[in-house]
Amino acid sequence: MPDRNVVVFLGGTSGIGREAIKVLLAAPQPRRPWHVILGSRTPKGDYFGKQYLDRPSSAEGDLVDCFHLDLSRFQSVRTFAAQLEKYVIGPIETLVLCAGIICMKKRTTEDGYEETMQVNALAEALLLDLLWPKLSAPGRKSRILFVSSALHLRAAKKRRLTPSNIDTYPKPNRYKTMSAYADSKLLLMHIFYLAEIRSQSDPNTRGCEVIALSPGFVPFTGLVRESGCLANWASKWILPWLPFAKTPQQSGSFIAQFITDAPLYPEAAVHDERAPLLPKSGTYVSISKGEIPAAEECYDEHVRNAWLEVLRDRGLWHARIA
Ligand SMILES: NC(=O)c1ccc[n+]([C@@H]2O[C@H](COP(=O)([O-])OP(=O)(O)OC[C@H]3O[C@@H](n4cnc5c(N)ncnc54)[C@H](OP(=O)(O)O)[C@@H]3O)[C@@H](O)[C@H]2O)c1
Repeated sequence: MPDRNVVVFLGGTSGIGREAIKVLLAAPQPRRPWHVILGSRTPKGDYFGKQYLDRPSSAEGDLVDCFHLDLSRFQSVRTFAAQLEKYVIGPIETLVLCAGIICMKKRTTEDGYEETMQVNALAEALLLDLLWPKLSAPGRKSRILFVSSALHLRAAKKRRLTPSNIDTYPKPNRYKTMSAYADSKLLLMHIFYLAEIRSQSDPNTRGCEVIALSPGFVPFTGLVRESGCLANWASKWILPWLPFAKTPQQSGSFIAQFITDAPLYPEAAVHDERAPLLPKSGTYVSISKGEIPAAEECYDEHVRNAWLEVLRDRGLWHARIA
C-alpha cells in the first residue's frame, strides 16, 4: 500500500474547500500521494471524491473518499470519528476545519444549541477532541487548520456570546444572521487557541502545528445559499467586482498552501525579506495581510479557561489544559 499523506477535510464539497482540494491534487510531482478524506453531510461528498480524482492533474496513488458527517449533530461527529479511528491506520497528517454555514433564521439543533454555533465551532471542538490521538503520533508533524473569518474581530467588540450565556444565546427575538455567524467564528478562535495550548502541552503532539486562516471575502460560494434570490444574484454578479473580493480559487489556493508546505503568502515575502515563509504554530494568518493578531479576548487566559470549562462540562473536550 502506498505511503499516503492523510488529510481529513471538512467543507470540501463546495466553495473555498472544494478549490483547495483541487489545488492539493494538482500539487507538483513527484510527491507522496494524498489520501483526502471528506466529511460530508450529503452524497455530494462521494460524487466530488470521484470527480476530483478524474482530473488529469491528480497523481497515481491519490485517493479521495468520503464519510458521512453532519456537524449539526454531535452523534454524527462521534460516528465519523469512530469510523476514522478504524479506517485510518496511521496518523492524520492534516485536519482542515473548513466547513461552515450562515443560517438566515434561528434554528436549534437536536443537541440544544443555536445551529451556526454548533456547526461552525462546537462540533469542531468535539471532532478535534475525538481525533486527538490520531493527530498526536510521536515523530510525525501533524497540522490543524482552522478556517476562521475576520468577522470574529467585530464579534469580540459586541460580546454577545459568552461562556456564561451559551444556553440562552441568542436572546429571544434577537437573532441576527451575520451576528450569529461572527459570534460562531469568535468561539472557533477560542477553540483554536485551546488546541494550540493543548498541542504544546501534550508531549505526543509537540511540533503539531495549529494555524487559523482568514480566507478573505469570497462572495460566490455556498455560504449564501439560504439567502434570497436577490442576495444570491448580487453575490454572483456584483460583489465579486469589489476590489477586496477574492475568488474561491484564490482563497482555496491560500488554504492549500498550508497543506502542501509551499511558501506562504508570497506577496508579503516579496515586500519584506524578513517575512517568514511558514507561520509558527498558534498564528492567525489573513490572505491579504499575512500574520495578524486575533481579537484581544482570544489572548485572555480567563476567557479561554471559561470556554474550556464550558466545553469540558458538555463532554466536548476532555483534556484539562489551558
Ligand atoms: N465565503 C467567504 O466570504 C468566507 C469568508 C471568511 C471565512 N469563510 C469560511 O470559509 C469556510 C468555507 O466557506 P465557503 O464560503 O466555501 O462556503 P460553502 O461553499 O458553503 O462551503 C461550506 C462547506 O461547509 C459544509 N457544511 C455546512 N454545513 C455542514 C454540516 N452541518 N455538516 C457538514 N458539513 C457542512 C458544506 O457542505 P455542503 O456542501 O453539504 O453544504 C460545504 O462543503 C467556512 O468555514 C466559512 O465560514 C468564508
